[in-house]
Amino acid sequence: MNTISFVAIGTIHTPHKTLSDMPIQPNGAKGIGGFIELQEELIEGLSDLDGFSHLTLLYHLHKVEKCELKVTPFMDSVPRGIFATRSPIRPNPIGLSTVKLKNIEGNRIHIEDVDMLDGSPLIDIKPFFGEMDNRYNVSLGWLDKSKGSCCETVRSDERFL
Ligand SMILES: C[S@@+](CC[C@H](N)C(=O)[O-])C[C@H]1O[C@@H](n2cnc3c(N)ncnc32)[C@H](O)[C@@H]1O
Repeated sequence: MNTISFVAIGTIHTPHKTLSDMPIQPNGAKGIGGFIELQEELIEGLSDLDGFSHLTLLYHLHKVEKCELKVTPFMDSVPRGIFATRSPIRPNPIGLSTVKLKNIEGNRIHIEDVDMLDGSPLIDIKPFFGEMDNRYNVSLGWLDKSKGSCCETVRSDERFL
């Protein structure tokens, strides 16, 4: 297999200090603030970002220590294929979260709706483009029965530790 290497462009700081009992998706973390500390030499790349309301963050789920190809997701009670879930214990432990952009101060990007562990290394920032990123009439597979609503209340436990 090919090896691909990336350098962290910054660190995401959040109030979530332990993997258990934290939100499992941004819609379960509404209003919870955090900030990105971007590498100083990348500040120029932040120009024109401040007009966007939301950012999609890609980050390393750096505390993952195992990989399983079938997992019982937080949102279900039966095992599902890893690529049909957002479980962190995947072959490449990359997290994806769309968060609210509050403001930018130098290399600090203040955000809300954070569902990642404090100290998660940041891989990339992309502006959320509603018109291009939103999809309608989607099928949610095994998740269809809950329509994703329980993400708002479910908290992580110790199943992926
Ligand atoms: C279900 S994943 C979803 C993350 C992201 N929103 C996604 O869809 O890729 C969220 C859970 O991953 C775990 N997690 C978050 N940040 C992590 C990190 N840096 N290392 C390991 N696990 C992490 C926590 O248990 C958290 O509740």
